[in-house]
Amino acid sequence: MASKASRWASNDDEDDAAAAAKIKKEKEEKKKRLKAEKARQQLQLEAERQAAQQPQAQQPQSQDDDRDRPMKRRRLSPEQPNPPTPAATSSDSSKLLRFESGAFGRSRDVEEYDKLNDIEEGAYGFVARARHVSSGRIVALKRLKLDAKARGGLPVTGLREIQILKDCRHRNVVQLREVVTSRLENIFLVLEFVEHDLKSILEDMPEPFLASEIKTLLLQLASGVAYLHDHWILHRDLKTSNLLLNNRGQLKIADFGMARYVGDPPPQLTQLVVTLWYRAPELLLGASRYGQAIDMWSVGCIFGELLTREPLLQGKNEVDELSKIFALCGIPTDESWPGFRRLPNAKGLRLPPKTGGGGGGGGSQIRAKFPLLTAAGVELLGGLLALDPEKRPTAKQVLEHEYFKQDPRPKQEAMFPTFPSKAGQEKRRRRNDTPNAPVRGQQVKELGAVDFSGIFAGREAEERGGGFSLRMV
Ligand SMILES: Nc1ncnc2c1ncn2[C@@H]1O[C@H](COP(=O)(O)OP(=O)(O)O)[C@@H](O)[C@H]1O
Ligand SMILES: [Mg+2]
Repeated sequence: MASKASRWASNDDEDDAAAAAKIKKEKEEKKKRLKAEKARQQLQLEAERQAAQQPQAQQPQSQDDDRDRPMKRRRLSPEQPNPPTPAATSSDSSKLLRFESGAFGRSRDVEEYDKLNDIEEGAYGFVARARHVSSGRIVALKRLKLDAKARGGLPVTGLREIQILKDCRHRNVVQLREVVTSRLENIFLVLEFVEHDLKSILEDMPEPFLASEIKTLLLQLASGVAYLHDHWILHRDLKTSNLLLNNRGQLKIADFGMARYVGDPPPQLTQLVVTLWYRAPELLLGASRYGQAIDMWSVGCIFGELLTREPLLQGKNEVDELSKIFALCGIPTDESWPGFRRLPNAKGLRLPPKTGGGGGGGGSQIRAKFPLLTAAGVELLGGLLALDPEKRPTAKQVLEHEYFKQDPRPKQEAMFPTFPSKAGQEKRRRRNDTPNAPVRGQQVKELGAVDFSGIFAGREAEERGGGFSLRMV
């Protein structure tokens, strides 16, 4: 239809054709979004169907209560294909059903849990360790912050967090057991308790992780992210404080306060997502259409942080973050990132002139910054931190990467070192120095005219001086 000349065609054929193409594209996008939504509903239905098929195994109240009895529990959904981690433990209780899926009964009361200690007050929630009174089971209770603007109601982020966690079932995604309420109209997520978060561990460990341990952590992270992306979920706030690690070496992605379902191509979305230090350059440059690659950028930042125990790109503000990104990953060019100039915030950028051949003064510094990383590791990290989102590997591609096949091989999870649990005792240290995810409703910053032309000043001297030279790749 769109290609056929309209009976009402005016002289302005070009405009008409453009308008028709736009309508067609919008229709296609809508179709794809509906498809994604259908896939999500399918997943939920599937889970409910499976649950209904095995009613004899369902002991809703007693599941928590009878820990000593031989357990007969049903699996909710088929295990997702996991990466070839050598230590996939078969006795993983995180796959077990904890609440009646699909049935909207009366929520249980938070009074059924005894608070043991605060774990941490985060940006949107408040997390405490608690014991289920009748079963003795230890859980984490996350109180959702209510929204003053929504007249004390649950913000949409809280609803999404519940919806998404309820749908997810994967060994590398934290498990939601149930949602409970209090008489004061607070809403709590009852989550499996996980002893550590990666950020606290990295801050406190005297020695960095071994290469084999980093590989296991990264594989688990990629496996969880692949599961989310496979189910049309963008996490949009991947960072070390949102990655939990238990004493059996299992990593769990947590904090779905920024997450949401999307289609392909994704709808227009807010750019105000992802904590600044883990935020992809396309978001900083104002892209409102973005996809899974923003999570992969964060995975790259986490990879770098696992290697050095320091957040990789600690910008003080959006402009500083971009400048740190360009200094590490190279300045964007029309070859390295075709079309980046069309992004809203890219128009006013003044970038340093390209110098020399092979990337010259504006090339990637990743190899120089990580001299101990193998060539395959540099290739993977460089890929995840590609400025052009199209060039970043998907989570599934990460799982297949050569880096994990080379020695040292990923360490078995069961062989992981254990760490003293801070969450189990006193409150975890407050991390005032770490930025939080942006708050909904905050104004998107326009970068305006920004001059980056000086960011490589001094690099030439650095390259020449000190009796060594940096390899620019
Ligand atoms: N299931 C859990 N078990 C143990 N600790 C947790 C759990 N979930 C969260 N935490 C701790 O609480 C912190 C804040 O939780 P998070 O879900 O990230 O909330 P926020 O949205 O406030 O950032 C995390 O960084 C982690 O240290
Ligand atoms: Mg968090």
